[in-house]
Amino acid sequence: MPRPFIRHDGPGRRDENGAGDRKRSGETQVGKVCVIIPAAGKGERFGGAEKKAFAKLDGRPLFLRTLEHFIRREDVCQTILAVAPEDLSGTKAMYGPNLAFMGVQVVEGGAQRWQTVSAALKAIKEGTEYIAIHDAARPCVSDEQINAVFTEAMKTGAAILAVPLTGTIKHVAASMVVEKTISRERLYEAQTPQVFRRDILLGAYARLGSTPEEATDDAQVVERSGHPVSIVLSDSTNLKVTTRGDLTLAAAILKARPARTGPRLGAFEEAQW
Ligand code: CTP
Ligand code: MG
Repeated sequence: MPRPFIRHDGPGRRDENGAGDRKRSGETQVGKVCVIIPAAGKGERFGGAEKKAFAKLDGRPLFLRTLEHFIRREDVCQTILAVAPEDLSGTKAMYGPNLAFMGVQVVEGGAQRWQTVSAALKAIKEGTEYIAIHDAARPCVSDEQINAVFTEAMKTGAAILAVPLTGTIKHVAASMVVEKTISRERLYEAQTPQVFRRDILLGAYARLGSTPEEATDDAQVVERSGHPVSIVLSDSTNLKVTTRGDLTLAAAILKARPARTGPRLGAFEEAQW
């Protein structure tokens, strides 16, 4: 018999293998984190007929590969997937029953990333203490990276994964001539998950107003509100799929990982998508 998906049943959720014993050591407090997965971008740099979020990575859509890192965690009480308005009905028709079974809510995103996140924030349920936002386009995040950033956010109220820059950084004029070389000392590239105490993130978004300055990540919104944001060291394996070639890299990274412990969904899982 195929095994069913494991649902979110809130605090105290048990897995089918053993009365709630934790499979991934380091997992944080039970059932307090709402995870938002923004998947409403246009994928312009990715190109092609099929949108980036729905492109297949090793046989399954990118957004699902990303969701899979969160749906079985005991510290996650809610998962929200935000898709573009034009993808909403198609997503519900094609994946709705399975997403519902996995406890994933689908909401309509907006034209700008901050609008997508704002829309998802309206669906956060009562009792959520922390909000984690993770790009649908980052399918290779590891359990260790998620554990580390969740733990830090629970200490400081606001934490993000980031990697130190390793290249030599040039500031270039419009004429494509180097103006100057910038020291990379203390320069980090922000990644996701970005995790915030609920009141800090909701407060920061409430202060944004209707025509905010451009913010390309959620940490920027929180930084502007004055709350310090801590950095948790990550690495380049948590890549953002931006171009089609990144899918090949992502597939290689996932393949190199040890097999996931905990409930496996096997052939049933593959057949459903
Ligand atoms: N995103 C979103 N809503 C938007 C814009 C972006 O939910 N209005 C999401 C994307 O779907 C992606 C994440 O934010 O999961 C990071 O964005 P990016 O990698 O830039 O993806 P796209 O915006 O889709 O790609 P592009 O910028 O090439 O169009
Ligand atoms: Mg974009």
